[in-house]
Amino acid sequence: MERIAIGFLGCGNIGCGVYKLLETYGPQIEKNEGVAFEIKKILVRSLGKKRSWEIPEQLLTDDADEVLNNPEISIVMEFMGGDQPAASYMIRALESGKTVVTANKMALASHWNEIVTVAREHGAGLYYEASVCGAIPIIRAMNDSLQANRISSVMGIINGTTNYILSRMSSEGAAYEDVLRDAQRLGLAEPDPTADVEGYDAAYKLSILSTLAFHRHVPVESVYREGIAGVTALDVACGREFGLTLKLLGVAKEEDGRIQARVHPTFVPSSHPLAGVGDAFNAVYVHGHACGEMMFYGRGAGDMPTASALVSDLIKAAAQKRHGLPAVADEPCVMAEDWNCVHFVRMQAKDEPGVLAMLASKFAKYGVSIASMVQKGDADERGFVQLVFLTHQASEHAVRSALAEIDEKIGSVGSIIRVEGV
Ligand SMILES: NC(=O)c1ccc[n+]([C@@H]2O[C@H](COP(=O)([O-])OP(=O)(O)OC[C@H]3O[C@@H](n4cnc5c(N)ncnc54)[C@H](OP(=O)(O)O)[C@@H]3O)[C@@H](O)[C@H]2O)c1
Repeated sequence: MERIAIGFLGCGNIGCGVYKLLETYGPQIEKNEGVAFEIKKILVRSLGKKRSWEIPEQLLTDDADEVLNNPEISIVMEFMGGDQPAASYMIRALESGKTVVTANKMALASHWNEIVTVAREHGAGLYYEASVCGAIPIIRAMNDSLQANRISSVMGIINGTTNYILSRMSSEGAAYEDVLRDAQRLGLAEPDPTADVEGYDAAYKLSILSTLAFHRHVPVESVYREGIAGVTALDVACGREFGLTLKLLGVAKEEDGRIQARVHPTFVPSSHPLAGVGDAFNAVYVHGHACGEMMFYGRGAGDMPTASALVSDLIKAAAQKRHGLPAVADEPCVMAEDWNCVHFVRMQAKDEPGVLAMLASKFAKYGVSIASMVQKGDADERGFVQLVFLTHQASEHAVRSALAEIDEKIGSVGSIIRVEGV
């Protein structure tokens, strides 16, 4: 039986989950995999804090050196979260030849080049399955199962909190603020929900996913990001009339050597597999030239689902004689400045003869063709009606240019939402 000494950086939700999984399922892992893990030290911030799983006091330390400089420890598991000091601790561990297993999408996406380079230079292992979509083995799939494919697109529901909010807005017609409050009460959204609802969390994950998919580093700063705070129950309802379901998607595509990586509210046809992903579940839909389309679905967060990915990485790291690192080219990626997709446009327009013809002529000027249009309800007291357009595939720049030319006295835009998967 191989015995491996490990150290933890952090012991909050996820660290306690990993401790619990190793304590309760470790004996079976020993039998199945022939390897035993011994936790030597656990770095925390507050030694006296009550934790969700009982951790022997003598294992806890508030001195990072007791993990990072411990010569016995060969694998460091990082789940302290945040950018610093997590990133520099991971780099220190790798520099001393220790393998790092991390759940930290923020530190990894923000310091990708530095972390991967240090791992390569020191022959150290770097494992990060848990950093994207919790229990779903999407990193393993990208690195170990889909190498024979040229991946053309990755579309994912990669943030559970926003999927919970949008799923409830969709099924109940509820308002964004009401569902957000509920999600906070249930512990599904943080008291400060910015990272989730503004798409930052999804952008870190998309940066990692698209880097692996296209073999070029896609920096998180290059990911276009739009959150769900502006989404209204009216948009959700109007989309439904067109047979569309609203999701916060991470969309990454490679077209003509240019990469698009964007996080934004997105309609998908209600018959699309991503439309059926409800509650706080995650899913990633991948298209490869050989494998065709496939979808990975499961729990993207929570202590035990995340621990499942982390312990699986731990077992894999322990079994490696030589650690593989992602196949990412040195050349920088070229990001697309514009992209084509179907657009959903909701606007208020003056209810009088000639207005529709004027709107059509603005779209035509920029080569945007309208696939369908509905008028919602009657005119308000100012004589304005809600119009909803669905375009054919059109460049985003063209759609926005056409709408920018519309005189406010005649029409104003309520929302522009991209449609994918059509
Ligand atoms: N929660 C999820 O469902 C989930 C899913 C996937 C990935 N992740 C990722 O997993 C990581 C951890 O998340 P979590 O929910 O477990 O966070 P958490 O509950 O806040 O735990 C963080 C842990 O790190 C320790 N810590 C933080 N800063 C420290 C510092 N400067 N020095 C020493 N110890 C420090 C804390 O110590 P104290 O306990 O003493 O405060 C705590 O034990 C994050 O990167 C997150 O993005 C989380």
